[in-house]
Parts: sequence; C-alpha cells; structure tokens
Amino acid sequence: MMKKWRGSCCLVVLLVAALVAAGIVLILFWRSRCRGENFYTHAAVAADSETCSHIGRNILEQGGSAVDGAIAALLCTSLINPQSMGIGGGAIFTIYNRSQGRVTVINAREAVPEKVMPGLLTGCSRLNPGTQWIAVPGELRGYWKAHEQFGKLPWKSLFEPTIQLAETGFRLPELLRKFLEHQQLRHFINNSLLRTLFYNNFGEPLEFVRYHQLAKTLKVIADQGPDAFYNGQIAQDLITDIQEAAAAQKSDSTLTAEDLRRYKASVVKPLTVSLGDYMMYSPPLPTRGAILSFILNILKGFHFTRESMEGDQKVLTYHRIIEALKFGNGQLSRMTDPTFRPYNLSVLLSDRFAELMRQRIDNEAHPLQYYNIEHQAMEKYSTSHISVLDKDGNAVSVTSTINQIFGSMIFSPRTGIILNNQLADFCRADRSPSNIAGQPPSSMSPSILISQDRKSIMVVGGAGGSMILSATAQVIMNKLWFGLSMKEAIEKKRIHIISDNSLQFEEEFDERVKNEMKRKGHTITSPSQLPSVIQGIFADQVCIEAVSDSRKYGKSAGY
Ligand SMILES: *[C@@H]1O[C@H](CO)[C@@H](O)[C@H](O)[C@H]1NC(C)=O
Ligand SMILES: *[C@@H]1O[C@H](CO)[C@@H](O)[C@H](O)[C@H]1NC(C)=O
Ligand SMILES: *[C@@H]1O[C@H](CO)[C@@H](O)[C@H](O)[C@H]1NC(C)=O
Repeated sequence: MMKKWRGSCCLVVLLVAALVAAGIVLILFWRSRCRGENFYTHAAVAADSETCSHIGRNILEQGGSAVDGAIAALLCTSLINPQSMGIGGGAIFTIYNRSQGRVTVINAREAVPEKVMPGLLTGCSRLNPGTQWIAVPGELRGYWKAHEQFGKLPWKSLFEPTIQLAETGFRLPELLRKFLEHQQLRHFINNSLLRTLFYNNFGEPLEFVRYHQLAKTLKVIADQGPDAFYNGQIAQDLITDIQEAAAAQKSDSTLTAEDLRRYKASVVKPLTVSLGDYMMYSPPLPTRGAILSFILNILKGFHFTRESMEGDQKVLTYHRIIEALKFGNGQLSRMTDPTFRPYNLSVLLSDRFAELMRQRIDNEAHPLQYYNIEHQAMEKYSTSHISVLDKDGNAVSVTSTINQIFGSMIFSPRTGIILNNQLADFCRADRSPSNIAGQPPSSMSPSILISQDRKSIMVVGGAGGSMILSATAQVIMNKLWFGLSMKEAIEKKRIHIISDNSLQFEEEFDERVKNEMKRKGHTITSPSQLPSVIQGIFADQVCIEAVSDSRKYGKSAGY
C-alpha cells in the first residue's frame, strides 16, 4: 500500500517537474525573441536621445508609472534638444491606463495671448523669431495634470535627474552642434541672448553645455509645483525678460502675467478609429490626430499585407498611400481650433466617408481641387516625441514642441527658459487670412493602438511639422500591415506629401517607385533639410521593442 502510494507520488512529482521544465524552455524560447538591441521584457522609453531614454527608464525602474517616466524624459529633452522643446512650449499627452482599459488625452498646447497683435500674420516668414510670436506656454500645466492623475513617484523626483544634468553639464550633443553651426540660424542666434547660452567669447559653440539658470528655475518648480511658473516669481521674471527683448528688438510683446495665470491644461477624450485588429486612439483638435485616423481609415479598406510591398504591387500600394495622404491634406483647412469653428469629426472619421475617398483613388494623380485643398500650411517645425511603456502595461505617447528651431529665439536670462513661437502655426503658405484664437493648429498626433484582444499595443508619434502625419502613418502600416519589426518600420525610407500635394522622397528611397510616381503625374520636389523623426514602441505578451529614430541619433532604453 505504502509502496504504491510512493510510486504514484513520484510519478506526479516527475510529471510536474517535466511540465515546469517544458514551461521554462518555452518561456526561454519566447524570451530569446526579445534579445538584442531595442528589445526589453518589462518596460521601455523611446525618447529622441539616449540620455533622456535612460533617465526615463531609471524612473520606471524605481517604480514610476509611464507618466512619471515620460515627464522625466521630457524635462531631460529640454536640455539635450533645447531647439525642439522645453517648459516654454506646449505638449499633448495620450495616456493609456491598462487596468481601467481607458485612454485619456491631456491638451497642454499653448494658447493665444489675450492681446495678440493685430496683423501679426502679415509678418509670417520661413523662420519667425521675435517676441510677438510667443503663445502662452502649456508644458508644465500639462505635466502637473498628467502627474496628478497618473503619477506614482513624487513630482520632485522627476526633476532631480535633469536638475543634476543641467548643473554638471554635458558634452555638446552632435545634433545641437549642427544647429549651432548652421549659418542661417547663426545669424538669428547672434541677435538673441541664446548666444550667451551656447557660444564662447570667440563665437564658437561651447564644447560643454551647462544650464545654471534653468537648473535654479527647475528646482523651484520641483519644490513648489507649476504655480511657481504661472503665478510666482518665475512668471514675473519671464514677462520682464520678454518685455526687455521686445524693447531691444523694437517689436511687440503681447504675453502678460494674466495670460500665464489664466492658462489651463485640459483633459479630453481621444478620437478612436478601428483599424482591423487594432483600435487607434489619437488626440482631437487642435491636433491633426483626426487626419491621421482618417488617412489610415481610408487605407485599411485596401487590406494591405506583407505582399502589398512586394514586386509589382509595391508601386500601386505607394500610389494608394500617397493618394490617401493627399485627401488628408484636403481636410487640413478644417482642422482649426474647435472653440471658434466647430467641426463634426464623427463624419470625417466614419467608415462611410473613408469609403467615399477610397473610391476616388484610381491609378493616377489629380489636380489640387480633386482633394478639396483650400489653402496650404507652412512647413517648418522642430518638435520632440517620446513613447513610454511601464511594467504594468500603461503607456504614454507624448509630443512636445516650442515650434520652430529654438522657438521664438527669445531666451529669458532670469529664468533660463527658451520661449516658443507657436503663433506662427497660424501662418499659411498662401497668406490667406486665418483667425487667431484658441489654440494654434498642430500636426502633433501622439497615438496609441491597442489590439482588440488587448494583448498587443503600439505607442507611436513623431516630429517634423506637416511630415508628422505621413511619417506616423507609414510607420504604423509598416509594423501592423506590412509585417516589419518596429526597427525596420521606423528606419525604412519614407515619402512625404507636403501641403501643396507635392511628393518628397527621402534620400535612397526606392528609385523605381519614385519614377513610377512621376509617370502617374505626381509632382516631386526635393526633400526638406530636416527629417521626420518617429519614436515607437510595440509590445505583445512576450517582448517589448522600443525604437528611437536614428534620423535624430536617438536610442531607446528599457529593462
Ligand atoms: C489606473 O487606474 C486604476 C484604477 O482607477 C488606478 O488604481 C491606477 O492607479 C491607475 N494607474 C496609473 C498608472 O495611473
Ligand atoms: C555671429 O557672431 C560671431 C561673433 O560673435 C561672428 O564671428 C559670426 O560671423 C556671426 N555670424 C553671423 C552669421 O552673423
Ligand atoms: C456629428 O454627426 C453625427 C453623424 O452625422 C451625429 O450623430 C452627431 O450628433 C453629430 N455631433 C454633433 C456634435 O453635432
């Protein structure tokens, strides 16, 4: 009796052991897929610099939420890529809380100052430096709102790594050096106090950058919260510096302490559109999230697969993508701030409207009117995007900007802050009048895509002005429909359709496709000097692949 019992016991033990072993082998096998550069198993940050991806990652490893990681990485980015974003600008967050299964958008886009200069837009040009273009910064109100709802670590701890970096300094980043050595920019920077921040007495870019004043400002905000910026001494110093800059440049300064005091970030509902296996969440107006959703909603009807990018099909596939992007351009003029021009997005995002547009895509290119293009937007921007996924599966897709390179080029010496020139987003290439009110329209469209079974997620967004839409759309399709890895999806050469509907191919783009597009009657112009830059994360139940675009020398980090 005893013996028999012992025997079956051993059998059970053996069986259990075998199952455990098989399980371990299976997990190891799965996990082996996750090895290598850009692959992680718990959490990841894809910022547009390696330094800031690391800072974000460390916050996640200390138990921070995706929002905590994103805020820490954003603050860091304001030092490494000060030409792109900072607390003198604005941001849009798209946030996924996995346990609630809910996506939230925080709109911290800059607002138009109360006393905006009449006739401002007659001064629109390619670059728009000067105090008259400064909109009310939204960045810190946005961080606070996001942290209030989704933060886990103390507010202050998110600032500490960046304050330290600002104080000790670091070697001039390669990309920043390129901007500082750019002749045309140099001319503007010479006329701005920015020169005191980045050049030595001989007019050469510094080898080593430090941000003493900004470090002090960040310390105050870390201790006291954003009220210090919007209501306190920092607000007063900022306004004084802007007024002094305006007096020196004999221009107008319209931003007031009252504008700062009144600024509020808002929590809004994301737009949703179903793309087959995935639900896509993107921010509503004043961003162009609706256009991105609209473009992909048209294209989903072609049921692209891996084969669509092979052999002869590739040409037709690209033509269809180009046409959908042109119809996207056709809707741009409607994407103004909802506070003064209500626009019913549910029509734009309906399957029926997408179907109508799809029917208009044939085998050739058409004149502008065919796509409903009324007027064209200006093109040049500088921006940063960060994608974050934490260990609990919560995600943040956030895009932040001061608009053009170094924003308004107004540097506030008392606070160390560089101010945006977001009002230039009201400029249009054809100089048609636009209404300056509410928030300037924005191409930013930080998005999150979640599979219907909720087991896979893609966190994606980018920088590059009006190229953001075409770049983000292509990366999403590359990953979800054309079967590429996230790395391949982001590194693949892209095509851009600018607002006059001309095509810009990145260098080394497939020559055959390019020639075929010319034959179909598309207009081709030379590519813009600044690339589009995408940061994306894709995660299934086994691996996380987080990728920062090499076009901006970015690198992801995770664990
Ligand atoms: C997500 O929502 C749940 C339930 O409301 C909440 O307990 C949790 O703290 C949230 N997670 C984050 C990271 O905000
Ligand atoms: C900017 O100023 C430096 C000296 O501080 C001078 O060497 C340089 O030529 C100036 N550049 C332009 C474009 O004005
Ligand atoms: C928008 O249009 C849809 C469909 O036509 C309609 O059901 C909805 O009520 C409209 N929403 C508003 C705010 O007008």
